[in-house]
Amino acid sequence: MTPPEQSFRAPPGTRDVLAPESARWEALVERFAGLAGRAGYGMVLLPMFEDVGVFARGIGESTDVVSKEMYDFSDKGGRHICLRPEFTASLVRAFVQHRPTTPWKTWYWGPAFRYERPQAGRYRQFHQVGVEAMGSEDPHLDVEVLALAWRFYQALGMSRLRLDVNTLGDGACRPAYREALVAYLAPREGELCEEHRERWRLNPLRVLDCKRPACREATAGAPWQLDHLCEPCAGHWAAVLDGLGALQIPYRVQPRLVRGLDYYTRTTFEVAAEALDAAQDAVGGGGRYDGLSEALGGPPTPGIGFSLGIERILLACDAEGVFAAPGARVAAFVVDLAGGTEALCLVDELRRGGVGADRAFGARSLKAQLRVADRSGAAVALIVGPDELAAGTVTVRRLRGGSGQESVKRGEVVDRVRREVAVEEAG
Ligand code: HAM
Repeated sequence: MTPPEQSFRAPPGTRDVLAPESARWEALVERFAGLAGRAGYGMVLLPMFEDVGVFARGIGESTDVVSKEMYDFSDKGGRHICLRPEFTASLVRAFVQHRPTTPWKTWYWGPAFRYERPQAGRYRQFHQVGVEAMGSEDPHLDVEVLALAWRFYQALGMSRLRLDVNTLGDGACRPAYREALVAYLAPREGELCEEHRERWRLNPLRVLDCKRPACREATAGAPWQLDHLCEPCAGHWAAVLDGLGALQIPYRVQPRLVRGLDYYTRTTFEVAAEALDAAQDAVGGGGRYDGLSEALGGPPTPGIGFSLGIERILLACDAEGVFAAPGARVAAFVVDLAGGTEALCLVDELRRGGVGADRAFGARSLKAQLRVADRSGAAVALIVGPDELAAGTVTVRRLRGGSGQESVKRGEVVDRVRREVAVEEAG
């Protein structure tokens, strides 16, 4: 075969996650699964691609996510498909399709795809963990969901976080607020940033969220949705803040928080990591989407959830010096100097006995095998040579915390390794 002219690299905005870094991912998802499972959320697996309409209708045509960032294409059957840019609209599509009994509480993790300009903390394929709870308007569900996110960050050891919350009202009070905002913005159109001067009428609320100084200044005296809530929304909002207070979750009311997806109603929130660059400091966000089921052809069903970016969480953990990669998972490394099937059998026996075990392959020298044993992170090397084979023993050599080796009867090796690991863990 002729060698290829070109070698390949992962596409821009994607990353390979290799061990040992991948062990942190496993641990993070495991932590999240435990937390969500203990709160009554069940895992869902959803397709990574959907009909483009799920997101166009669900998220909103005028959003950046839909208008600029979709990975969409026609498949071989002529369907207009896109890779999911997020989970929520896809989850609600599944709700409408299957009509599970409510409250329906779910959690998920996996990749999402957005054609963004890649930079540190911003990728084209990124990964989220999240929960969605459908079927209840109870403000204490908002608090439960917010608390789940907050407790998760805490469980990872993160502390330099800022939780911003806001309410966006509902179908009853938002239209009147929107009019008030339009009336405020119209005479100030010329003061807005270039992008919003052109586009502000499409979604006037988004101007509030714009980080550019021109928009910031022009909107300094703008009316806020917070001050234009109908009675039910005001009551809901008060109960959410009250619940957050009761759980002692620190928050900041941020009336500018609009978020980049159009399905939100009432409670919205975002968590920023102070250790990250301000442009990419959002480590998670979410809120209510009480109209999304209907927008996707389903029955009126309220919902709330959040998604957290795994890559950004890990970057923030690095910056805070918390949630290090978990240690090696092999306890024993079998060094084979005897040939034959003895090493094969010993490794199998250790693993069946619940002891993490690895071995060298390819009949290499003692020195070379011990080097691999050291790299494996194992606590002990188990040396099987011709002498050991003849005597029915194994040489157990400690690899950490002082050297030293001894000869152990073959039948007692598994127990011995267990004890060795227990002593090390206790120490
Ligand atoms: P989102 O704010 O678009 O919300 O994304 C949530 C989180 O995903 C962000 O805070 C960030 O940590 C991460 N993220 C987003 N885009 C990127 C990217 N290009 N690279 C790296 N990380 C990224 C949602 O996705 C909603 N579905 C949240 C939600 C759930 N609302 C209700 N339920």
